[in-house]
Amino acid sequence: MSDIESLFVTRLYRAALSEHGPAISADELESTCYAIADDDEAGQDWCEENGYPGYTSYASLTDLGWRMPIFADLIKALDLHVAAFAKELAFDLGEDGKLELEDIWINILPEGGMHASHIHPHSVISGTTYVSMPDGASALKLEDPRHAMMMAAPPRLKSVDRDQKPFIYAAPKVGDVLLWESWLRHEVPMNMSEDDRISVSFNYKWV
Ligand SMILES: [Fe+2]
Repeated sequence: MSDIESLFVTRLYRAALSEHGPAISADELESTCYAIADDDEAGQDWCEENGYPGYTSYASLTDLGWRMPIFADLIKALDLHVAAFAKELAFDLGEDGKLELEDIWINILPEGGMHASHIHPHSVISGTTYVSMPDGASALKLEDPRHAMMMAAPPRLKSVDRDQKPFIYAAPKVGDVLLWESWLRHEVPMNMSEDDRISVSFNYKWV
């Protein structure tokens, strides 16, 4: 009888935002995202100059938690989710060490918008909470981190179990939070909905 273990497992955390911290109204968060986007001319200019479809506050705003109370509440909730995930990952952060928010930003992706495959260098945990996910809005696509080492490895059968698939599509609902380790490559495929796909993404660093 053979014995096959699963080794070097990659974990993906998924929870309802409401499981930790202050209650966050999805409607209020959505209207706040639009209000910030409308006001943020530097961000709009950056998106235009850089060919970013829709809007992101990534390059222009570093203080969402100070600007808007709902973002301060959101950060309180995210801190607790990230701490729970760090515990699950068995991170040894040292006696005084902790994971601390480094960046948090809004993404408004219109119909046809996408975000190409990337990682989040210099961070430990990255994630997204979902603010508006109309029907047809894309899932998050996560990639097996061993692809660069696969060389001549054959593809896997379409019927393979989820834990052996080369790509995973995580289809979050409004109010969900997804967390993963920042080295995990991911992308947002094209938004096929006529309506905006709105999310708030963030990075946590080890301090
Ligand atoms: Fe990302």
